[in-house]
Amino acid sequence: MICRRTLLKTGASLAALPLLPGRLHAEVALTPVIEARVAQAQIAPEGYPQTEVWSFDGKLPGPEIRARQGSRLTRKLVNALTAPTSVHWHGIRIDNAMDGVPGVTQQAVQPGQTFLYDFDLPDAGTYWYHSHNQSYEQVARGLHGPLIVEERDAPDVDRDVTLMLDDFRLDPETGQIAGFDNMHDFSHGGRIGNITLTNGTFNKNLQTRQNERLRLRLINVATARIFTLNVQGLDGWIMALDGMPLEAPRPLNEPMLLAPAQRIDLIVDISAEEGDAAHLVRMERDEAFSQVLIEVRGVSASRPRGTPDPLPPNPDMVVTRLDDALQSHLRMDGGAMRGFASARMAGQEVSFREAAENGQFWAFNGMVGMPEAPLLVAERGQTVRVTLQNDTMFPHAMHLHGHHFREIHADGTLGPLRDTLLMFGDERREIAFVASNPGDWVFHCHMLAHAASGMMTRIKVL
Ligand code: C2O
Ligand code: CU
Repeated sequence: MICRRTLLKTGASLAALPLLPGRLHAEVALTPVIEARVAQAQIAPEGYPQTEVWSFDGKLPGPEIRARQGSRLTRKLVNALTAPTSVHWHGIRIDNAMDGVPGVTQQAVQPGQTFLYDFDLPDAGTYWYHSHNQSYEQVARGLHGPLIVEERDAPDVDRDVTLMLDDFRLDPETGQIAGFDNMHDFSHGGRIGNITLTNGTFNKNLQTRQNERLRLRLINVATARIFTLNVQGLDGWIMALDGMPLEAPRPLNEPMLLAPAQRIDLIVDISAEEGDAAHLVRMERDEAFSQVLIEVRGVSASRPRGTPDPLPPNPDMVVTRLDDALQSHLRMDGGAMRGFASARMAGQEVSFREAAENGQFWAFNGMVGMPEAPLLVAERGQTVRVTLQNDTMFPHAMHLHGHHFREIHADGTLGPLRDTLLMFGDERREIAFVASNPGDWVFHCHMLAHAASGMMTRIKVL
């Protein structure tokens, strides 16, 4: 859909370029724009004031971008904010230059400037996009949206619904976004909001009919909150994690954990009858809150269809030759209660206290923030194993750019493909992946206040 504003802009640029040859002319005119700008959103329940947010295209969440697997995605980012920004396309096996990480793959896009993102979409699945500049603040202010890559053969469902789960921290007096200088957030569990949202609204209501089959794409875009989710009044299966199909659908019979940046694709059949309650339920300290109220109105013509077929696997995703893999280790320490004895920060040895005075609280392998040398350098096509040792008291959601990995379980079996791994305090886990995508790829905690205060490194694929 092209809005009037985009048309007006396109008109203006056409007028300014009267001498371009026809073909180029057309390409300039057709590049779709995504604009980062300030907007107003009804985050607090109806009746309370609106909140000023930072948005893509004036929407919270940003517009749903849908594309076919194997196609190319082109978006010109226009920065109409007063702060530099960028767009990271989370979970896409992308051309490194398009990964959107200022200081690593591009310069931040200054106010009034643009950047052309243009890349292939090799994999189907549920992804998202978000600012990767000052992301602990910019994502928490609203700079995020869904990116859905459709399978060539879509599964048989009546409806495909994206649900972006989020939280915001609002100042209770003004209803505006609370400040970002709370050191407790950085040193503890990150910035946990005081209002949870689904697709930008406090009370999300989904109208369905009994026996309807829905695909639900759950995306956690909160910067720190881990959602524990359950369902009520529906039967379902987990079909995919972090965009990647499971080999066999997994029946939904226990609560699901959804860490920041993770995604879960479900197929669900509405079993509740009209008048019965159906919900997507968020669990917190044994209390259940309705995250999405599913209203059942009437009966659908469709009949229960039984376990769905698995989604088609994405191409060329193999973990091979675990035995002669490149072995690497990442130890995470710091944070409240434990700290660290000393670590390297900006080329100097510092105590935890000195780091804290600079707003830094965490270290990877004894280094605070992006190190000079990458964590590892892999040949293209090489299998890499990384043991992750969480020596802190806090959970972390470790995200690797440009690749999906599998967890190597204690018994040697491999877990499903993921791009973000949730680790609890004192856990040790191991992941493996094929370093298939050349470039510098950041590897960081997606609790974004942690990434901003030390939990950031990168890998290099030659
Ligand atoms: Cu979704 Cu480096 O981030
Ligand atoms: Cu973390």
